[in-house]
Amino acid sequence: MIRSVVRGFGTALPKRVVTNAEMESMVDTSDEWIVQRTGIRQRYIAGEGETTASLGEAAARAALDRAGLTAADIDLIVVATSTPDNTFPATAVNIQNRLGMHHGFAFDLQAVCSGFVYAVTTADAYIRGGLAKRALVIGSETFSRILDWTDRTTCVLFGDGAGAIVLEAQESRGDTTDRGVLTTQLRSDGAHRDKLYVDGGPSTTGTVGHLRMEGREVFKHAVGMITDVIVSAFDATGFTAEDIDWLVPHQANKRIIDGSAKKLGIPLEKVVITVDQHGNTSAASIPLALAAAAADGRIKEGDLVLLEAMGGGFTWGAVLLRW
Ligand code: ACO
Repeated sequence: MIRSVVRGFGTALPKRVVTNAEMESMVDTSDEWIVQRTGIRQRYIAGEGETTASLGEAAARAALDRAGLTAADIDLIVVATSTPDNTFPATAVNIQNRLGMHHGFAFDLQAVCSGFVYAVTTADAYIRGGLAKRALVIGSETFSRILDWTDRTTCVLFGDGAGAIVLEAQESRGDTTDRGVLTTQLRSDGAHRDKLYVDGGPSTTGTVGHLRMEGREVFKHAVGMITDVIVSAFDATGFTAEDIDWLVPHQANKRIIDGSAKKLGIPLEKVVITVDQHGNTSAASIPLALAAAAADGRIKEGDLVLLEAMGGGFTWGAVLLRW
């Protein structure tokens, strides 16, 4: 049996940091409100020349470097994004070209904040199905460009950035010490569309539109949905909360993360938090957090790592992997 094993990881952030104090000068908000409600202290905002493709390319190059690979070794690129450079061609194809890669295939995938979990699931399926040997899985976003900067209820929450991993086909050991992706669980339900959406698009308004969110409504569903997919991941593998070395959640809100960890019985010392530094970077938040914990030595080879996300759609999902 083939497993998709993580070979490398990398990140890229825009140059400009915007603190909560700076947000106070843009909208009627306060550092205290933002920190208490969300845990966010700062976010990175893309400037001129910084786009979803340029950030994704930089994260991909860093992941290839760490893996000791080049673009010539990759045969699939999946980019999770809701903020592509253009409606088409796909940002993944743009990144493929920027990497000087003219073989293999590349495409975008859109599942909003669950995008990275969906992208890992997709790349893993292609690898296990024999369609690819090594995949770059990238989450890259410039949400600052779809925010209504006069709406304090949303603009303080999001940031820009990118993270990438390289997944590689490896023969399974066939026991519980197997490295790589062990199970993936995906869900969606379009009935919740109006709670979190963008009010524009090529086929409706012909504009890019702005993000609209009923935050309290999203919050109400988040913890239940997250625990549902994680319980499914445990059921599928036989692992339990006690076996988990690291929980790397989508970084939307510290209260949702703490609530989910508590409900699952995963101690907060085992939860990777970067929302304070990055804000909610949607599909980029999990690979940014994963890379932070792997780079500083918290996540080590052999660790059991649980990824989870919930976002617009609604979409939600979990990935259980051994690093
Ligand atoms: N600064 C100060 N006050 C504010 C701000 C702000 N930036 N934003 C809203 N308020 C006010 C509101 O107007 C309201 O005032 P009122 O009581 O006088 O009407 C008050 O603060 C409380 O507002 P709520 O919306 O009830 O605040 P809540 O405690 O629910 O926190 C938040 C809001 C942070 C958005 C929270 O609901 C949340 O995190 N929701 C989940 C968001 C999420 O997880 N999204 C994930 C997916 S994202 C994706 O997929 C793209």
